[in-house]
Amino acid sequence: MLQSYFYVYSIMTLEKGDDMKSIFPRINNTTLDIKKNTRVISLINELKVKGILPIEELKYIIENISQNECQELFYIANMVKEKYYKKKVYLRALIEVSNYCKQGCFYCGINRDNKSIKRYRLSSSQIFDSVKNAYNLGYRTFVLQGGDDPLLSDEFIADILIKIKNIYPDTRITLSLGEKSQESYDKLKIAGADRYLLRHETASFKHYMHLHPRDMFYDNRIKCLHYLRGSKYQVGTGMMIGSPFQTSDSLVSDLMFLYKFQPEMIGIGPFIHHHDTPFKDYSDGGLYETLVMVALARIIVPKALIPATTALGSIISGGRELALKAGANVLMPNLGPEDKRELYSIYDNKITISDSDNEFKTKLENKLIKEGHIVDYSVGDHIDLEGVK
Ligand code: 5AD
Repeated sequence: MLQSYFYVYSIMTLEKGDDMKSIFPRINNTTLDIKKNTRVISLINELKVKGILPIEELKYIIENISQNECQELFYIANMVKEKYYKKKVYLRALIEVSNYCKQGCFYCGINRDNKSIKRYRLSSSQIFDSVKNAYNLGYRTFVLQGGDDPLLSDEFIADILIKIKNIYPDTRITLSLGEKSQESYDKLKIAGADRYLLRHETASFKHYMHLHPRDMFYDNRIKCLHYLRGSKYQVGTGMMIGSPFQTSDSLVSDLMFLYKFQPEMIGIGPFIHHHDTPFKDYSDGGLYETLVMVALARIIVPKALIPATTALGSIISGGRELALKAGANVLMPNLGPEDKRELYSIYDNKITISDSDNEFKTKLENKLIKEGHIVDYSVGDHIDLEGVK
């Protein structure tokens, strides 16, 4: 632990000159009567037509967009989403299976060096009970998410997958269990997994080094994403916005990476500090910064399934609803055991639902319908895969 802290502090001193707050220098400008930046608007329109822009132009958008142009950006992103997915919002049941983790990501509250949290690992019957409850509530996609827990062996996971798919063949299972070998990904796919979430976190090698200890490698992360493609998963990746040492260049790299990789799913949320991590004193990512990146991701990867993330709902109430109007089309409520939700504390003040699942479901559905969305509990595959299974 000492070693990781030392490493991160040494980088902090080295990088003192970086001006973190200038990534989106104009975004929090709320003077809506000033003139719109017409170059930003025309670049956004060009992006929609061409799918991608040169690096300098993407950087121009990020560095010059203010709330005056955001409404236009969000409107365009929403139109792109509706072209492929209409007004649908897909619901997935998130089940947090373990908060043990062998990795030492500096931003994450469940990293291996945090000795202050209570660790848990669900038993196979606890996982299955959560799946059963979610199924009975109408969910047809279950997302099994956890830390990079070495004791969640391939065999253990595969047995659960086989059982779920035997009893509920009309469903999809998404895994989010970290970096594994090609063989492991293959085994889990064959056992019944359909999708896998593994955020790249940042597409800048240098930035990746700032966020992770020396035994984690950017190249391995990317290799894993390619393994997942090779194993025929629907692959999800993504990044945090406002993480320490992020720059407009690294955000542009993220967009270029998304364009080249064309993931089936993209998770984007704000960085939120956790009090027991090396990044405890860093400020959180902002709402508008995150919404802009969600919207740009939607335009660059038009057919992606993009969740309105819990992190966005945690920095501001209503954050997820705003994302659903800026290009996002998936919601992943937590359907794991209630007494474990607090323990999956990857950042401070993470929202946990206190309503019973049934009550929550009705409230959520009513809210979504009121906002003009169509609530969709179907398996909700990526549009290119619909009907393939
Ligand atoms: N703030 C926001 N997101 C976080 N994640 C981990 N820690 C934090 C944090 N402090 C995100 C990472 C990870 C996903 C499961 O949660 O992007 O991939």
